[in-house]
Amino acid sequence: MKLLSPSILSADFSALGHQAKIATEAGADFLHIDVMDGHFVPNISFGSAVMKSLNSHNTAPYDVHLMIENPEQYISEFVTDKTEYIVVHQEATIHLNRLISQIKSTGVKAGVSINPATPVYTLKHVLNMVDLVLVMSVNPGFGGQSFIEDSVNKVRELARIREEREDCNFLIEIDGGINRKNAKMVLDAGVDIIVAGSAVFKGDEETITENINEFMKVMGRRNP
Ligand code: DX5
Ligand code: ZN
Repeated sequence: MKLLSPSILSADFSALGHQAKIATEAGADFLHIDVMDGHFVPNISFGSAVMKSLNSHNTAPYDVHLMIENPEQYISEFVTDKTEYIVVHQEATIHLNRLISQIKSTGVKAGVSINPATPVYTLKHVLNMVDLVLVMSVNPGFGGQSFIEDSVNKVRELARIREEREDCNFLIEIDGGINRKNAKMVLDAGVDIIVAGSAVFKGDEETITENINEFMKVMGRRNP
């Protein structure tokens, strides 16, 4: 089944709990938690306290996307009963193998992400360790940017590797510039989890539900 992970980065932070509740009630499979430190990416978002404050407002598990330097120091902060994935950037650590093992030792699933300029082959020796690969389809840092077309080639490459290698069993997630128009193309290429920020959280509460419904239709989970 194809899955949807709305990014709360584009939500109205003054009504975050409420908007998270609306999104999960509308059928969001995860909440995508974009953590930015102003160093790895040129923007600061929020930390684990904000994520934890949502616990009572949503029923969906967290898909935590760490866009931070020294991720090793912060993994344990993001481990909660609701944390399903912690995703780290290949570019943010020298010891990726060790970091993935660290995440898995907490009992949470481990994901690895690559920026638009980073080739898939840099993940060759960790693909058998991870539960998820996140292909960035914009340069991370901000919501509302335009989709970078070449990302589809990376998704196809990962889908092919997963098919060919018996030791790999990761899900493919895509993040950045996804809307209801280009969603089908990335799903057809092999994406399992779509992250969408501005295409879900723009507009009022009714619109959030409507936006999620539209994605569910493209994913074949609601009648058109
Ligand atoms: C970008 C973040 C994304 C962002 C996506 O750095 O990692 O998760 O929220 O936003 P949209 O869907 O608006 O491109
Ligand atoms: Zn993200």
